[in-house]
Amino acid sequence: MVKKAVIPAAGYGTRFLPATKSSPKEMIPIIDTPVIQYVVEEAVASGITDILMIIGKGKRAIEEHFDRSPLLEETLAQKNNTEMLAKIRAISDMANIHFVWQKEMNGLGDAILHAKHHVGNEPFVILLGDTLVQGEDGPVTKQLIDVYNKYKGSVVALEEVKPELVSRYGIVDGNAVSDKVIKAKNWIEKPSIEEAPSNLAVASRYLFTPEIFDYLEKTLPGKNNEIQLTDAMREMVKYHPMYGLKFNGKRYDIGDKMGFLKTNIEFGLNDPELRNELIDWLKEFVEDL
Ligand code: G1P
Repeated sequence: MVKKAVIPAAGYGTRFLPATKSSPKEMIPIIDTPVIQYVVEEAVASGITDILMIIGKGKRAIEEHFDRSPLLEETLAQKNNTEMLAKIRAISDMANIHFVWQKEMNGLGDAILHAKHHVGNEPFVILLGDTLVQGEDGPVTKQLIDVYNKYKGSVVALEEVKPELVSRYGIVDGNAVSDKVIKAKNWIEKPSIEEAPSNLAVASRYLFTPEIFDYLEKTLPGKNNEIQLTDAMREMVKYHPMYGLKFNGKRYDIGDKMGFLKTNIEFGLNDPELRNELIDWLKEFVEDL
């Protein structure tokens, strides 16, 4: 049973400055809900009951968001706004959420290593706190758990990207074992087009067996002089089975300006309360361009 999730949310969010100067990029809202809340909801919908967030300086708003808000709850109760009261309470009741501080920005691998003590000796999932993935057949984290239950090895969500974009991602080298599942032979962080063994990119959701921590402990700084999770995966795959899942669904990168705009529009179009008005406005607006 996979019960624990780790959500790294310590990065600076430099692609989204100045919005991220004093507020965490993970708190950027899509419509009316911060990105990280959707991420936690995905974990919970996948059966996760225990979440560890790795946070850094300037990230206190995340803690506040998942804490109880007695004064706000009292005000909503007085106003008989029961619907919002239930929504607000649900945020702090979703799961057991814990926090650990990454004091220096030493990369994603170092952030994950901070979870070692909390995770202990069990398989766990990682959801990057600034990226949404929407599964067509259930949450993507749940899709990873299903693959783990079948193949009994670590599993990483993979997405096909255009060849010119491989240098932005971790890329897998492997062989297909089914329509959707790849047995990994190697992982390469941000390769050039020439170096890339495929165009299947690591897409911000991972499930690891606990041995990943042994490899992270031995990993030296790599790309950008940071401890890269992909480098630890590269060593681990030599000794432990690792798989990639070409998940059914879509990934939204919120740390990117265009990604943020598109996601808000798509989520607006999927919201029954906003959909019709938004379509009318978009049509009118585009015609006038
Ligand atoms: C990180 C990982 C990379 C992965 C990407 C998207 O990169 O290092 O392997 O493909 O997330 O999940 P970053 O976006 O932090 O540069």
